[in-house]
Amino acid sequence: MSCEHSQSYQKGILAPVPNFAKFITYTLTSVDKLGQCLAQLALRCDGESVVLALSANLVAKISAGANIPGLKAMPEFSHNGLSLTQDQTDLLIWLRSNGDGASIGDLAQKALSIDLLLQPNFALHSSVDCFNYNNRDLSGYEDGTENPEGDKAIETAFLQHENPELNGSSFLVIQNWLHNLKEFKQRSQAEQDDTIGRRLSDNEEFDEAPESAHVKRTAQESFDPEAFILRRSMPWVNGNENGLIFAAFAASFDPFETIVQRMIGAEDGLVDNLFSFTKPQGGGYYWCPPVSEGRVNFSAIIAR
Ligand code: HEM
Repeated sequence: MSCEHSQSYQKGILAPVPNFAKFITYTLTSVDKLGQCLAQLALRCDGESVVLALSANLVAKISAGANIPGLKAMPEFSHNGLSLTQDQTDLLIWLRSNGDGASIGDLAQKALSIDLLLQPNFALHSSVDCFNYNNRDLSGYEDGTENPEGDKAIETAFLQHENPELNGSSFLVIQNWLHNLKEFKQRSQAEQDDTIGRRLSDNEEFDEAPESAHVKRTAQESFDPEAFILRRSMPWVNGNENGLIFAAFAASFDPFETIVQRMIGAEDGLVDNLFSFTKPQGGGYYWCPPVSEGRVNFSAIIAR
């Protein structure tokens, strides 16, 4: 396939998970001079060290009639008493850094200056500090093994569209999962492996894993049509609490929704074992605009 549109995507999406990051969300509080505020924000967002994403509500408020086909608020997923809450916000900023420990300070400074810029129009909703734990989740298991790579990753994560203002944009799902590792780590190694469906020791998938194992529930090629997503999830620790910011990019929300329905048991009644030690505390759907000349490009939603 042509990778022309790949020129215009936010490069931080395709790049490997960074050493340190902040996932910051905001809710819209005022539309007064909103266009100006976002134009200023765009100057700070190169799509690589700062990845930017907008909600359907924000897009609709930016200019009358603005609409990104396929963008919507995150629905509530529920089945048989298991329900995944959402806390849809309007703006998501993913600050990324591959520096050393000092870059945590740099990220904090960057977040502060963006916060000041957004103050007239947005209220801070959440800010989660994340890190790369050798590409593992805090359960210890490697996360991202079956991510698509190369052209397949580009095809998976980015919209290919004849309209250059949409071409290279991406749909982002965020969920903040809170773990109970104290309980998880008291299980036998075999039970832990059965929860994920891979062996901790060598990261191998094993046939005897139960059908409710996470990788059996989510096997991307097992869906019809196949349901590929590009995951860029990152662990977080806050005092005694810890978890994972699940972040997945795709050309639409469809593959994520297909996978989640099977995870919660809506397909065949079997619930993903993952829920036995961790649960999402909220989440949202966002649209990542494309990039032009090194800055995120809002021209699909703001008239030039
Ligand atoms: C706390 C939350 C989660 C944790 C700790 C977690 C962890 C893992 C791990 C350890 C793997 C195996 C290695 C890999 O291929 O990456 C995996 C695979 C996968 N997970 Fe998750 N995951 C979480 C949430 C989710 C959610 C919400 C989805 C949603 C749609 C999802 C989708 C997938 C997919 C598609 C795969 C690859 C399956 C395959 O094709 O083999 N995960 N996850």
